[in-house]
Amino acid sequence: MNFKKRILCIGAGYVGGPTMAIIADKCPDYRVEVVDVNAERIAAWQSADLPIYEPGLDEIVFRNRGKNLFFSTDIEQGIRDSDIIFVSVNTPTKTYGQGAGSAADVQYVEKVARTILACSTSDKIVIEKSTVPVRTAEVMGRILRSGSGNVNFAVLSNPEFLAEGTAVEDLLHPDRVLIGAHDTETGKVALETLAEIYGHWVPADRVVRSNVWSSELAKLVANAFLAQRVSSINSISALCEQTEADVQQVAHAIGLDPRIGSRFLQAGVGFGGSCFRKDILNLAYICGTYGLEAEANYWHQVVTMNDHQQDRFVSNLITALFNTVAGKDIAVFGFAFKADTGDTRDSPAIRVCKQLREEHARLRITDPKAIGNAKLEIPESDEVAYIEDPYEAARGAHALAIMTDWKEYKDLDYERIYQSMEKPATLFDGRNLLDRSALFEIGFNVYSVGRAPLTHF
Ligand code: NAD
Ligand code: UGA
Repeated sequence: MNFKKRILCIGAGYVGGPTMAIIADKCPDYRVEVVDVNAERIAAWQSADLPIYEPGLDEIVFRNRGKNLFFSTDIEQGIRDSDIIFVSVNTPTKTYGQGAGSAADVQYVEKVARTILACSTSDKIVIEKSTVPVRTAEVMGRILRSGSGNVNFAVLSNPEFLAEGTAVEDLLHPDRVLIGAHDTETGKVALETLAEIYGHWVPADRVVRSNVWSSELAKLVANAFLAQRVSSINSISALCEQTEADVQQVAHAIGLDPRIGSRFLQAGVGFGGSCFRKDILNLAYICGTYGLEAEANYWHQVVTMNDHQQDRFVSNLITALFNTVAGKDIAVFGFAFKADTGDTRDSPAIRVCKQLREEHARLRITDPKAIGNAKLEIPESDEVAYIEDPYEAARGAHALAIMTDWKEYKDLDYERIYQSMEKPATLFDGRNLLDRSALFEIGFNVYSVGRAPLTHF
């Protein structure tokens, strides 16, 4: 078949895989190929067992794979054959050298730019899909222009705003598609070429055009603002626990003001995921590099509050269990950083479980999708058991901690769970997921984030 254009995506991760699957589905006239250095990951994308879990993703991949959607490890051939290249590699927090612990590690982005330059024999549009420090496109452009000059490159910024667990829905119905381009003829043509792809399914008024630097920075700022809301409501949850105000009621009351809005006001055990912490730390670091110390400190505080919320959860738990958890079994319900994903990156469960282990608690961890990833974070041992069945995980435990807001946990028979636990049985709802009055009626002592505890003594 003759395709209109050939799209390549470098990086077959949580963003590259789903994003390209949707483009292939909506644009049958384009050939889409996803490449990665990780052969195991590519093999999984080619198999019946995809490397990531996202509701609705399997069927979209299965119906397009082999038609106009392909997965491969041949990066160089992919580059040679393509007209448009999305760069969707990871940009984790740097763990070494200058900026360790806060700056973004952009080495993979740079490597990809060099590979593109080395392998290209025809003009290309290169699109930053990864979340990158503002002005990274300048670096990419400089590298891409450092060759013989026979091949022309246009660099665009097109950050991704999908959230895990709702990736397919977010990609099908985005609030906005942001495209940043340079104000040059090449830039404008490239921008419209990309807009045409999204035009296959995204209403024209949702495609937002900006300069490259605004686009790069807007992505970091969007995550920083979302995380800031979570830390803000979590800071209030601590005050609620002291004053018998109920954080759910406070959030509801303030969220009715359209200037505030109701979303991202769910108090809990803190935000996790691969990006919030990384992107805020990066934003703070960038501020610091421009000498904006007060601004850097301001954003850093969002992360500090998040760590504090997790530590506070553990302290509350230990205090409620008579100041010691040593030798006690704690059932941990949920290890994913949020519901509907198997992703455990920076999950609050990691920090909480590690601290509980330091206190010599024994853990019985369950999760519908994340047990495989969880084992990589906290290895199975005599003191740490992974148990698929939540009823089994709760059996004999002194306490149960809800760490992830899985819908499945709402529908469990808590009477049965209560009967199988050590008494007094205590439930710590880190997500305000369950009906605490019903649990209290059953006999549990109930500690929910941001609400006065319900205890039988
Ligand atoms: P990921 O780690 O799941 O996937 C990145 C992939 O890139 C990996 O499979 C890795 O092997 C591959 N890779 C790295 N260097 C490569 C190279 N030189 N050549 C080929 N492949 C290479 O990461 P992700 O979660 O998909 O995130 C990718 C980017 O998108 C990050 O910048 C992230 O901040 C951003 N982002 C992520 C999400 C999300 O929900 N995960 C949402 C929006 C934006
Ligand atoms: C987030 C953003 O929502 C996406 O727009 C962005 O594209 C993505 O980061 C990214 O850049 O990686 P994601 O991390 O997948 O998406 O999930 P969110 O739904 O934002 O949740 C993040 C964390 O905040 C979760 O741990 C969640 O439980 C927590 N959260 C969220 C709360 O504790 N309270 C809330 O009210 C909302």
